[in-house]
Amino acid sequence: MEFHLFSAETYRKRRENLVSNFDRGLIWLPGNSEAPMNYPDNTYHFRQDSNFLYYAGVDLPDLSLLIDVAEGKTYLCGDNRSIELVVWMGPQPSLQEIGKRVGIENTLTSNQLLERLKKAVQVKEEIHFLPPYRGLTIIKIAHWLDRAIKDIKSGASLQLIEAVIGQRSVKEEQELKQMEIALSITRDMHLEVMYEARVGRKESELMAGLMAVMYRENVNLAYPVILTVNGQTLHNHDHSHVLQEGQLLLGDFGAECPMHYAGDITRTVPANGVFNERQKEIYQIVLEGQKTAIEMMAPGIPYRDVHLAAARKMTEGLIAMGLMKGDVDEAVQNGAHALFFPHGLGHMIGLDVHDMEDLGEDLLGYDGEVKRSAQFGLRSLRYGKKLSEGNVLTVEPGLYFIPELIDIWADEKKNASFICYNKLEPFRDFGGIRIEDNFAITETGTQLLGPAIPKETRDIEFLMSADRLTG
Ligand code: GLY
Ligand code: MN
Ligand code: MN
Repeated sequence: MEFHLFSAETYRKRRENLVSNFDRGLIWLPGNSEAPMNYPDNTYHFRQDSNFLYYAGVDLPDLSLLIDVAEGKTYLCGDNRSIELVVWMGPQPSLQEIGKRVGIENTLTSNQLLERLKKAVQVKEEIHFLPPYRGLTIIKIAHWLDRAIKDIKSGASLQLIEAVIGQRSVKEEQELKQMEIALSITRDMHLEVMYEARVGRKESELMAGLMAVMYRENVNLAYPVILTVNGQTLHNHDHSHVLQEGQLLLGDFGAECPMHYAGDITRTVPANGVFNERQKEIYQIVLEGQKTAIEMMAPGIPYRDVHLAAARKMTEGLIAMGLMKGDVDEAVQNGAHALFFPHGLGHMIGLDVHDMEDLGEDLLGYDGEVKRSAQFGLRSLRYGKKLSEGNVLTVEPGLYFIPELIDIWADEKKNASFICYNKLEPFRDFGGIRIEDNFAITETGTQLLGPAIPKETRDIEFLMSADRLTG
């Protein structure tokens, strides 16, 4: 069994850092268990909890991390694997062995952990845990802490949530290296699709190709693949279409590296390998929106302002094309652009593709200075706070033509002073364009993570026309 771990010192330091926010109580981070698909032994691919990975590193099911703050002791909790499991799953390291590799000397069996938690409940000792997102974890916490299931999510520790957000939001150099690995595999997956896409090919065939590239590296997806000629549907997981002349193919997919850091890249390419004029025009507007955002990103700049700058840039382009009209600033203030750009500019990324979304989007992405907007479009921005050095975010503007949304807005004459509804008819079957890359915030600006993946129209067309190198 191969483990992919940072040094024991890394995990020890992270835990020390975490504990420095507390002066008493227990910190309890339950790892994930196997999740059954259709009967108990037929499970989904195992994915460890990211908070557990961050502080304890071990990629095995049914473990917990317990930190007794007053006692100054850390425990890796779980049961040594039975001979039954060894027979079915192969040799298993002992809890003591794996604990050592992540700097944890002490272990507790599940029963001992249960007793320790029971005692804490009896003497009303604080037990800090994070908001669980899996049904089984919720049940486990409720059972072990003798609380009602409905009280578990709200019973999560704000102090712990804030401490974890503080730490995980600033990536270590070694974490950035892991993201580079994820993005390098992700690049190869995207190139595979660009080489193979052509009129007459099925989305599912292209899907098979990108999955083959990924599985060759013995890694997994960071999130379900979007690969569709209907890119106007934002989270479209259908792969049943055959690519047709004049269509765009939107591919939003990425791999995790073996340590589970995510890559999240989107490219949009013409089905026949050459953008037509209309596609090129819209594509260029999205690309300009992305470039505007990237240039602006630096420590101290609220990401909400970056989102709005990208929105203004794209609105300018749509006005120049005659699809929108009026004053750019007013149009964006009124949220008119959201008819075409209904989502946020990006999100934090790390061990989760939407990093730490389990801890609460508003706690992660907003604060006293930047509050989440209620306006359609802007309200979907997952991260609005000021950027800091070491943050890692995606930048993913897009423009979409969603017939159902256009019809509703047109009927309501919504933002009619900014939108040229009479010009939209020819765009009803246009689809959508999104361009997404991942960036670390540096002392002065940004650093693109991973290898550059072609995104200028001429580079995409060149790549799609090239014969694949063999040998
Ligand atoms: N792949 C999901 C996203 O871009 O947010
Ligand atoms: Mn993304
Ligand atoms: Mn994406």
